[in-house]
Amino acid sequence: MSLAYRPAQAEDLAAADALVVATINDLTVRHGFGPMATASPPSFQLFSLKDDPDGLWIAEDDGDILGFAWSWVCGDVWFLAQLFVDPAQQGRGIGNELLKLTLEHARKSKAAHKALITFTFNRVSQGLYMRHGLFPKMPIYFFAAARERVTERLPESPLRSMPIDDTAVTMKRLAEIDSRATGVSREKHHRYLLNDPATTGVLLCAGGGCVGYSYVSSNGHIGPLAVMRADILRDAFAAALKLAAGRSSEKISAFLPGTCDSALNLAVHHGMRITFPMLLMASPGYGDWTQYLPRNPGFM
Ligand SMILES: CC(C)(COP(=O)(O)OP(=O)(O)OC[C@H]1O[C@@H](n2cnc3c(N)ncnc32)[C@H](O)[C@@H]1OP(=O)(O)O)[C@@H](O)C(=O)NCCC(=O)NCCS
Repeated sequence: MSLAYRPAQAEDLAAADALVVATINDLTVRHGFGPMATASPPSFQLFSLKDDPDGLWIAEDDGDILGFAWSWVCGDVWFLAQLFVDPAQQGRGIGNELLKLTLEHARKSKAAHKALITFTFNRVSQGLYMRHGLFPKMPIYFFAAARERVTERLPESPLRSMPIDDTAVTMKRLAEIDSRATGVSREKHHRYLLNDPATTGVLLCAGGGCVGYSYVSSNGHIGPLAVMRADILRDAFAAALKLAAGRSSEKISAFLPGTCDSALNLAVHHGMRITFPMLLMASPGYGDWTQYLPRNPGFM
């Protein structure tokens, strides 16, 4: 038995995802929330690996994957998408070592800001991140409801929606919205979402201009969603709920930051329920999101 750390390869990603799913469910079941995760093709992991292999690391012993860490960088933001250690191997320093390797990715990329989304009920992850200079910033609630429930009495949004395409004009608009909402352009990630057949993206427009965008997945999940100004968030979320309501999914869901009052208000008044409490942790000075709803804890 010899524990080793090495860069992840494309062939590792399906097994790493299986480890992540099992580890999430171990945690959420232990805390009384029931299973949260289901396996899916590791498409975004593969995209990140091809884009920048420095961010993906494996801990292994005799060919068995014991831990997986994955970070990506956009502009000057480093984001830790996943850090998971096999439940039977936790508490022996593996998470700390993997985190150090991904933080080296942040250092090499000259990232000014670091962030991640973890489980509010995981004391271990939060303590570990604090040790490395990442502090609790705000709660992020995973809200969900049956689609029929949300559809009743949904307000009309004054915003018009236009499909997102991959033209330079659209990419420039998206970059401007993202820069205002999260401080960084995420063009490569919009291109990734455009190639995802299960996801539809729209620009949200008022008058002659685009004031935001939203993505809705075929399973009824909303996000990412971003707006140019915080006072447009309610209308943008209402437009996204309408788009999700018009699909055939069983549920509608979204991750709503605790700082996004107007979206939280709309969610609770339209039957959505807090399912999992999550937490944004970040390096000091980053993460005041009042114009952004993340897609999930991996995509941000
Ligand atoms: C979080 C996780 C990756 C950490 O990996 P690990 O290998 O178990 O962690 P390590 O043994 O390297 O480090 C644990 C550290 O957490 C900190 N810690 C643990 N419990 C703590 C508590 N109650 N309060 C504060 N800090 C705590 C300590 O710094 C501890 O290190 P120490 O024992 O040397 O003092 C792993 O436990 C895991 O996969 N958990 C479930 C999934 C998860 O929440 N992942 C993070 C998603 S963002």
